[in-house]
Amino acid sequence: MKIAHQIGVGSVTINQKAQQYLQEVIRSNRLSYGPFSQRFETAIAKLHDCRYAVFVNSGTSALQLAVAALKEKYRWQDGDEIIIPALTFVACSNVVLQNNLRPVFVDVHPEYYNLDPAKIELAITAKTRAIMAVHLFGQPAEMDKIMAIARKHNLKIIEDSCETMLARYDGKSVGSFGDISCFSTYACHIICTGVGGLAMTNDQELAVMLRSLANHGRDAIYLSMDDDKTENRNKLGMIMERRFNFVRMGYSYRATEMEAALGLAQVEEIAANVRQRRENAAFFLQQLQRWEKFLQLPRIMPKAEHSFMMFPLVVRDSRIKRDELTLFLEENNIETRPMLPLTNQPYNQALFGAGLKEQFPVAKYINEQGFYIGCYPEMTEEEKKYIVDKFAEFFRR
Ligand SMILES: Cc1ncc(COP(=O)(O)O)c(C=O)c1O
Repeated sequence: MKIAHQIGVGSVTINQKAQQYLQEVIRSNRLSYGPFSQRFETAIAKLHDCRYAVFVNSGTSALQLAVAALKEKYRWQDGDEIIIPALTFVACSNVVLQNNLRPVFVDVHPEYYNLDPAKIELAITAKTRAIMAVHLFGQPAEMDKIMAIARKHNLKIIEDSCETMLARYDGKSVGSFGDISCFSTYACHIICTGVGGLAMTNDQELAVMLRSLANHGRDAIYLSMDDDKTENRNKLGMIMERRFNFVRMGYSYRATEMEAALGLAQVEEIAANVRQRRENAAFFLQQLQRWEKFLQLPRIMPKAEHSFMMFPLVVRDSRIKRDELTLFLEENNIETRPMLPLTNQPYNQALFGAGLKEQFPVAKYINEQGFYIGCYPEMTEEEKKYIVDKFAEFFRR
């Protein structure tokens, strides 16, 4: 029996609250940065123990601004290096290159899939300025060890938390470890606003720089269209003088009130969202356990919470071809994705040499053997059972 609809790697539900907020945006006649953006930023920053959040049009934009802001504040030079995992989404190396810096890849942990702290120090050179710690699939990277290395070598930390929200490591929230942390609200992510992303920080100077960079590099005196609403004549004069000043070369990365309204409605229900993801994952872990000799199931690190944006699996029996399994699942309307190939991308091989992927054997293995399926909260009991039945059918063959 084949289910009639596709069970995707993610889903979108625009619930009553979201519809109400969208109506409020439409009635307000205000689409650019306004009350919904402010409320969304404040709520999501608070949830991740951050003081400031800047809502932009994508997680990639947030990462690009994070690198640019740190480069400016700490006067990094072109060609300086940032350590990034050899297994992650392409945006991580792209934003480093786009800022005229050099990504230095480090292999990942074979069971947790995030940066392997034991391998970081080997990659540090006199030019290393930062580590980009990526929390993949919903699980935090090993932040205590990564922070200790950063302190020892005086490196900044960028957290790429695009795939992880509301998860703690050693009691501390993702997003609150780094100098700047970045989140995505693109399709299939824990919160989905269509497009969107956030850069968060506890450093006021960096927060102002991030907002300025997202607004063409504007003078800090006028970063929102409300900033010139004042009764004070002298102040108004000063703002008018500076409101078309651009103090750095920036970008146009703003999001709208529509995305913020969708985001706010979901932030208000994020605890239930993540709880249901964890329940789904517990179900899959329990049901798929019987094929553990063929499949490596996700493992939760000691000290970590997992928010299961996805459910990652690695085929570990050489008699089973990963591509045959994923083709079988897709033929049966269960969507899959590979586990974030980076070092085998044609353009990265052109830039860093054809042997790039061979230098990171764990990432290579996961690229070749891994894939993920969805774990989203709207998945029904019937859909979850169907997925398990299809694995059973495949392994029976
Ligand atoms: C780890 C990681 N970093 C960055 C991004 C980029 O986010 P966006 O698609 O919002 O630009 C993604 C997106 O999927 C991601 O998974």
